[in-house]
Amino acid sequence: MSAEKTRDGFSSTLLALMVALGSAVGLGNIWKFPYMTGTGGGGAFLVIYLFFVFCVALPIMISEFTIGRRSRKNAVASFKVLTGNPHTPWALTGFIGVLSSYLIMFFYSCVAGWVYCYTFKAATGAFAGITKDSAGAMFMAAIGAGGAGQPFFSKIVLAPVFWHILVLVVIGTIISLGVAKGIEKAVQVMMPALFALLIICAVRALTLPGAGAGLRFLFHVDFSQVTPAVVLSAMGLAFFKLSLAMGVMITYGSYFTSDADLTSSPLKIAVADICVSMLAGLAIFPTVFSFGVEPGAGPGLLFITIPLIFSQMPFGQILLFAFFLLTAFAANGAMLSLVEVPTIWLSEEFNISRKKAALINCVLIGAVGVLSAGSADATGYFGGFKFLGRGFFDLFDFLSSNLLMPIGGFFIAVFAGYVMKKQDLAAELSNNGTLNNESRVNFIRILLRYVTPLLVLVILLNGLGIIKF
Ligand code: PHE
Repeated sequence: MSAEKTRDGFSSTLLALMVALGSAVGLGNIWKFPYMTGTGGGGAFLVIYLFFVFCVALPIMISEFTIGRRSRKNAVASFKVLTGNPHTPWALTGFIGVLSSYLIMFFYSCVAGWVYCYTFKAATGAFAGITKDSAGAMFMAAIGAGGAGQPFFSKIVLAPVFWHILVLVVIGTIISLGVAKGIEKAVQVMMPALFALLIICAVRALTLPGAGAGLRFLFHVDFSQVTPAVVLSAMGLAFFKLSLAMGVMITYGSYFTSDADLTSSPLKIAVADICVSMLAGLAIFPTVFSFGVEPGAGPGLLFITIPLIFSQMPFGQILLFAFFLLTAFAANGAMLSLVEVPTIWLSEEFNISRKKAALINCVLIGAVGVLSAGSADATGYFGGFKFLGRGFFDLFDFLSSNLLMPIGGFFIAVFAGYVMKKQDLAAELSNNGTLNNESRVNFIRILLRYVTPLLVLVILLNGLGIIKF
């Protein structure tokens, strides 16, 4: 049997799509996307986001799937295989992906830990009768605020560390079971459950009195709110939302079945991802407006406002549990994809077993993540340490989103558009001529050569402050 046949992979195109969607759907859908849509001009923001999905994200996702499936290797080795040169500098593009996935995990795992903690709290009825003050205090305790100057082995410091480690134990266990027996099986259960729970929460929210104000917030069309900064953030969101330039889609591409259509699959993933975000928006904003609360951004909305207002509604405790459970599932799917990137890389490049590679990664992420767990708030145990003016938590986020992601995305588009031979790209995207999609492939190649890299360069230069809008 050839090495290729023994390599683990997805069992069908549908499951491959579900797992890739599991990576795309994450914390970004539950609060980032709906909130950015609401404040960025509603329907106007959506049009701009869709433009970037089409011109930047889809061509890059198609390139990543192509690079992965053609080489059937991890994110680094794939470039070596495709260039036929084990010392190719293009392997650096893969390294950037592996590095970004580590950096994201160093803080994403902590946030996933807060979600686990809140799911547990909701299950045990801890939110019954909370007030604005107690909800705020509960969140500060969950993120380890006030840990500065306390002994390391105190409850306030160790609580977020405990949940962050628990996330890694769960994810590490699933990863070590394999692609088909681990990741695929877990996502197969979590994704349909996530959809079902989300629909229940959205229906409940939409039937509240005064829900219309929430719908207006989300769907009004206002181009006057679209500033250049909003345009750029829409592009960054498209990268983050669709898990691009992280090695994730190259790695998952390497597990795709040979008959999967790599040109239409990314479109399906992007559309389904938007649907989840919209459903999350429908669950959150009608509720927020119905209770007359300001729709605050970010963690505050998810961890303070939501528990506060859900617990005031009939069946609120059950709904809160459903809401945090679905958020935990979303975070798990994203974490699985992130841990898979360095796991298969370590395992293939250093010839060690998958289990050992997963263990090494989880220990590493667990250890470095402790720095994030202690620096999510400036008053945390490690809150006083600053690099480039940022604490560990913000630094990991900044380096991955503003720097490595656009650099990686740029080089991936250039690799697929200029370095890969036209006939190789066409062969992979047409499944060796069986799909008869020549004009579509030509169009994608034009985007990859002349549109995508230029647009990405713009966000990169802006992110670095070299050009300002
Ligand atoms: N797409 C995920 C989200 O929306 C985040 C993520 C980024 C996951 C990069 C994997 C890789 O939350």
